[in-house]
Amino acid sequence: MKPDLSIEFAGIKLKNPVLTASGTFGYGYESADLIPLERLGAIVTKTITLEPRLGNVQPRIAEVASGMLNTIGLQNIGVKSFVEEPLDNLCKTGVPIIVSVAGASVSEYVETVKILSAHSGVSAIELNLSCPNLKKKIVCHDLFLMQDVIKGVKKVSKVPIIAKLSPLVTDIAELALTAQNAGSDGVVLANTYPAMAIDVKTFKPKLSTVKGGMSGACIKPMSVRCVYDAYSNIKVPIVGCGGIMTGEDAIEFMLAGATAVGVGSSSLVSPANLIKVIDEIECILKEKNIKSLKEIIGVVNNGQKEK
Ligand SMILES: Cc1cc2nc3c(=O)[nH]c(=O)nc-3n(C[C@H](O)[C@H](O)[C@H](O)COP(=O)(O)O)c2cc1C
Repeated sequence: MKPDLSIEFAGIKLKNPVLTASGTFGYGYESADLIPLERLGAIVTKTITLEPRLGNVQPRIAEVASGMLNTIGLQNIGVKSFVEEPLDNLCKTGVPIIVSVAGASVSEYVETVKILSAHSGVSAIELNLSCPNLKKKIVCHDLFLMQDVIKGVKKVSKVPIIAKLSPLVTDIAELALTAQNAGSDGVVLANTYPAMAIDVKTFKPKLSTVKGGMSGACIKPMSVRCVYDAYSNIKVPIVGCGGIMTGEDAIEFMLAGATAVGVGSSSLVSPANLIKVIDEIECILKEKNIKSLKEIIGVVNNGQKEK
């Protein structure tokens, strides 16, 4: 018997839990010739801002052992152009579309969400709260600012809001709870880990901005721990993200408490890995004779969730 991979996330029905991770799958439709997009649980777009952004200067990517560093700097065409073309193309995929949004101020977040929320093709908004604000501080490192952003967008959004948090905090469970209490309908745990690498041939940093975000297989145990810690402290569902390369990795995040998973760096190696992860999840459930994926969420936490 085919196991049931479907899940519900913040009221959105997904045929399976596998999401693209923001920024690693472009605007989402460009890979239509490479993989069957309709097989994905949902497409999360790269982060969109109110105005277009060129991003940081090169070099913006560096390889490290079992992972990579990036400092893309939120390069994107801006929300008005995004709504005109990429979003229309995305809607043709028939897959739930989650648009990632960032801003340098509360009003930038709110204005961007207002424009997106008017479009019927958007299933949810992911708030990238792990990017720097005007004062170059990470938004979710300033709890008051984070709460203002979430409360502000909740007032104008017709769709669920999912807060994507930075893992670089003292207490991820408390941060997730603060996001939930401000109105977030779900959380993504987590974004990249601040890191740097130096080229010992040139004695220069490998990234133009010196520091960037680390992703890939090397971060998985740290991100699984974030999910495990937050799960029992919050009611809203979690997207587990960080270093998922295989179906086994995805299952690991779900056992720790994730309802859905985001696959990022692995899809940069090959977009087909997204489909491989879905197929492998199905194989693991079949092998273990588990009928529904829902049965495994939070098992390592003894399924104990704040009610
Ligand atoms: C090249 C690159 C670009 C990224 N751009 C974004 C972005 O625009 N917005 C965002 O919220 N996260 C962004 N991320 C973070 C990923 O969505 C994901 O949270 C992180 O890479 C951890 O997952 P992974 O180990 O599967 O890649 C980016 C990551 C990479 C590698």
